[in-house]
Parts: sequence; C-alpha cells; structure tokens
Amino acid sequence: MQAFEAGHEQVIMREDVHTGLRAIIALHSTVLGPAAGGCRHWVYANPAAALDDALRLSQGMTFKNALADIPFGGGKSVILGTPGERLSTRQLETFGRWVDELGGRYVTAEDVGIHVADMRVIARTTRFVSGLGTATGLGGDPSPRTAEGVLYGIEAAVRTRFGADSLAGIRVAIQGLGNVGFHLATLLNQRGARLWVADIADDRVRRAVKGLGAEALSVDDVLTADVDVVAPCALGGAIDHRTACALRAPIVAGAANNQLASDDMGDLLSERGVLYAPDYVINAGGVISVAGEYLGKEDPAWVDSRIAGIGERLQAIFERAAGSGEATSRIADQLARERLARAARDDLRGNGGRAVA
Ligand code: NAI
Repeated sequence: MQAFEAGHEQVIMREDVHTGLRAIIALHSTVLGPAAGGCRHWVYANPAAALDDALRLSQGMTFKNALADIPFGGGKSVILGTPGERLSTRQLETFGRWVDELGGRYVTAEDVGIHVADMRVIARTTRFVSGLGTATGLGGDPSPRTAEGVLYGIEAAVRTRFGADSLAGIRVAIQGLGNVGFHLATLLNQRGARLWVADIADDRVRRAVKGLGAEALSVDDVLTADVDVVAPCALGGAIDHRTACALRAPIVAGAANNQLASDDMGDLLSERGVLYAPDYVINAGGVISVAGEYLGKEDPAWVDSRIAGIGERLQAIFERAAGSGEATSRIADQLARERLARAARDDLRGNGGRAVA
C-alpha cells in the first residue's frame, strides 16, 4: 500500500508562536474506531513533504489496523523538526494539548524520533496516548512485539515456500539491527536460523556477530544475499526496481514500513516468484501491543492471540495470492478495503460498525 489515495477525514496543521512547534495531525479514517498512529519527529525538506508523509502514513495505519484485528482507524502525526533539535517539555505539552482537542478521535504513540520519555511528557496534557507502558507490564516499547510478529510471519512464509515447520538451518539476511532488527535476530537465533546482518552502525553488527554468531555483510550486499529470507528492518523503499530484479532470496519478510518503493514492485516480486510478506501485515505486532495498553487489556491473551494471528493472516494472504496469481501486496490491500467497506456498511445500517474490543 504505497500510492496515496485521497479521502482523509481530517487534517490539521498547527503552529505555536510561543514555542515554535509546528505539527500536522492527519486522521485518515475512524470507520473502525479512533484514528491510531504514532507521532514522528523528523526534519523535512519543506512543509509539503511533511504533509505528504502524514497523509501517506496515516492511510497506511488505516490498512494496518484494519488487518490487525484491533478496533482502531488510521491516523498519524508529524512534528516538523530542525536539524539537531530536541523537543522541549513545553513543545511536547503543546502537542499533547492539540491531540487532546480532538477529543479522542486521534490516539498517538511513539514513532521515529519520539521516545517513551517524550510520550510521558505528552501524556501530561492528553489521555489519548499509548506506548507508555503500565505498572502491570502492559504495552510500552512496541519493538519487541513487532519483532515477534515478524518472526511469526517468517515462519508462515517458510512453511508456504519450503513446507518446513521449523526455522532450524533457514538462512536469513537482516538489513538494519535497530530496535526491531536486533530483537528479530535474537529470536531467529533461538530458533536455529543462520543469520547474515548489515547495518550502517558497525557496533550493532559487531554485537550480532559476537552475541548471535551472525555473519556480517555490507549494506550494499545484504538485500541481494544468497539466503532463504531477506528481512528489511531499516528504512522504507528497500525494494526498488534494481533490488527487486537482483534479489536472490525467495522470501522477503521484514519489519520496515513502506518496503516497496512503488506499488508495482509487489507485482514484480510476484512475477519473479518471490514471496513477499506485506509490510503492514507482518509488522503489526507493535501497534497491537500499544492498542492493548490503550484499551487496558490486562489479559495477555488479548495481545498475544492477535500477534500470533499475524502468521495465520499472512498464510491466508499467501494462499489467496497463489490461487489468484495476484501479488500478495494487492491481496492485503483488498482485504483491508473489504474490512473497511463492511464496517462502513454496518455503520450505515446502524449496527455500530465498530470492531469488538
Ligand atoms: P531503528 O531506528 O531502531 O533501527 C533502524 C536500523 O537500521 C538502525 O540500526 C540503522 O542504523 C539501520 N539502518 C539505517 N539505514 C540502513 C541501511 N541503509 N542499511 C542497513 N542498516 C540501516 O528503527 P526500528 O524501530 O528498529 O524500526 C525499523 C523499521 O521497522 C522502520 O522502518 C520502522 O518504521 C519499522 N517499524 C518499527 C516498529 C517498531 O515497533 N519499532 C513497528 C512497525 C514498523
């Protein structure tokens, strides 16, 4: 789901003259529930680029949440940063007030450049926040749960492609050993997979080589390594035309958002016989965890079963793609649209239309 489609419910651009804070909050859809999606703090080339990011990311959240079986629509916010800037307490509190004024139609959490400590400051001025973690251990940093979901997705892909029920001996190349990538490497290592890793930060690579027995690859070679699975866990756009043509792995399954540089890359992977796990389906573990925290789901089964469901959902997408000959990315988009259309119809009929929490 890369191409931007019009139809956002509400987009707000605000500037605070006192603190210099500039932010955009984009609510793409509240059909399934409050628009949920993190807040990104990033230096953009210009405000139009920030708006484009907010529109695209919030639409992506609608699709992600729709397929994650959580009662939330899609939204996203971006804070327009300046190089080297750290957000002040007053700026974070101001942002919280803007979120609060939306009365719960938007729920925010961490994204790139916003950490748990920032969220705790934002939470002083709004309760429509998640990803803080609770005393009982609910939620908090979503990265480990994202990695867990990616692991289930890789298992489903390996089962589909190789008919194997175990990851023992499966060769996986991971691009990016950050919060999610390193957790994923650890989980794969525990399951007996063989690891190849690359990161622009050498210390992270050294840690994986030393601690997990991984082999280091250069950042230029990792996506085209001769392995069974390539797991993009760095930035978006990993699969462009050049990479899609040069890929040697029969499976692409990783955590990064917006892995396909354009929609037709999904078709190209499919034509080349590469099994692609659609990014917003496989990387939903974190948002499921954050949703459970927001809803106060103390029973771990609520979150655990949904994260485990990522594997089953992908399996269903792989099967439908095999049956129809369409790309897995197109099938995921269709399923998300179907769920949204069903909920909108239910709403019109007065059935509430909301997913059951
Ligand atoms: P992170 O910032 O902790 O890690 C990214 C890693 O990629 C860093 O170690 C960085 O040095 C490395 N990197 C950057 N460019 C690279 C390149 N060209 N080649 C190799 N390595 C490179 O980010 P995090 O949280 O681990 O997220 C990774 C991806 O997963 C992002 O695309 C993010 O949007 C996505 N994601 C993360 C979720 C989470 O729970 N943290 C949830 C859903 C998606």
